Amino acid sequence: MKIKTSAPGKLMLFGEHAVIHQHPCLVTAVDLRIQVSIEKIETPMIFIETPRLHERGQDYSLSINDLFNDQQLHPQTKFIVASIRKVFSKYNLHHGLRIQTSGPLNSYGLGSSSAVTVATIYALINLFEIVLNKQRLFDLAYSAVLEVQHLGSGFDVASAIYGETLFYTPGQEVEILPLEQLPIVMAYSGAKVSTTRLVEEVEQLRSQFPEIIDPVFKSIGNIATSARYAILQNNWSTAGKLANINQGLLESLGVSTPSLQKPIMAARKSGSFGAKLSGAGGGDCMFAIISQETRSKVEAAIENSGAQVLHFAANVEGVRLEIEHL
Ligand code: MEV
Repeated sequence: MKIKTSAPGKLMLFGEHAVIHQHPCLVTAVDLRIQVSIEKIETPMIFIETPRLHERGQDYSLSINDLFNDQQLHPQTKFIVASIRKVFSKYNLHHGLRIQTSGPLNSYGLGSSSAVTVATIYALINLFEIVLNKQRLFDLAYSAVLEVQHLGSGFDVASAIYGETLFYTPGQEVEILPLEQLPIVMAYSGAKVSTTRLVEEVEQLRSQFPEIIDPVFKSIGNIATSARYAILQNNWSTAGKLANINQGLLESLGVSTPSLQKPIMAARKSGSFGAKLSGAGGGDCMFAIISQETRSKVEAAIENSGAQVLHFAANVEGVRLEIEHL
């Protein structure tokens, strides 16, 4: 039996960094899907093929008996192996597997780790006919992500599972916003340093100035709450102003860079409602809130500033089963 699943990437809209401290955020799922196919094999081994390994003419294999011994997880397969560990230990499973992932080689920082984790766990639970609701799927996938990277608010895992556009507060029920449209332009500013490092730098700033940084986090959380309301009313001009304020607060945390600021300023000057960076900062993506009349002008201004406009649809479906072969 072979199961194929896919999960979307994500674009953080409002609330990054503050969400680590239990403040709410808004995130939308983007159509940069990672596919995972898994089949049971009789050999007690796990074979994994990923696009990156394939490009280098490599593959990865692990004996089932070593599944829990391998402390040094391989960088290209660590989220997949952590996902198998979680499912096998929770459901007491022990079976050989052949796994193939596919998706773009460059994921622009749009959440390929959470997407591959969610798609792997969803494929495994379908393969072993385990019934799991979305909340339990979240718990399992989030624990797999934490095993690998030790920190993270879980917003990206929630986005890969539920899809669409979410209002997410750690530890609380996810709210799916019933949106008809999300008028944004997203763009890639170039590679960044690791999310872990940026989160740690912000944490250091907070431990040095808690009485200043905690209110910044609180304001960012309030912006996410106000933006939720504005978006539900289709009030894109207010959402744009909130994006600009959120960007100012992220700059105060030291996570913005010239490669992000240039397209953000270009988007603002060319008639968008507002623009900000998306995610941990230090590079990767920014987005602007636009109207259909300003879209092409804003896109051209962003490209002229040196960033690459990405044409992925937003507000798309979460994890899904693609094929099942008996
Ligand atoms: C990174 O995309 C967003 C952060 O808030 C980290 C997280 O929430 O896991 C910086």
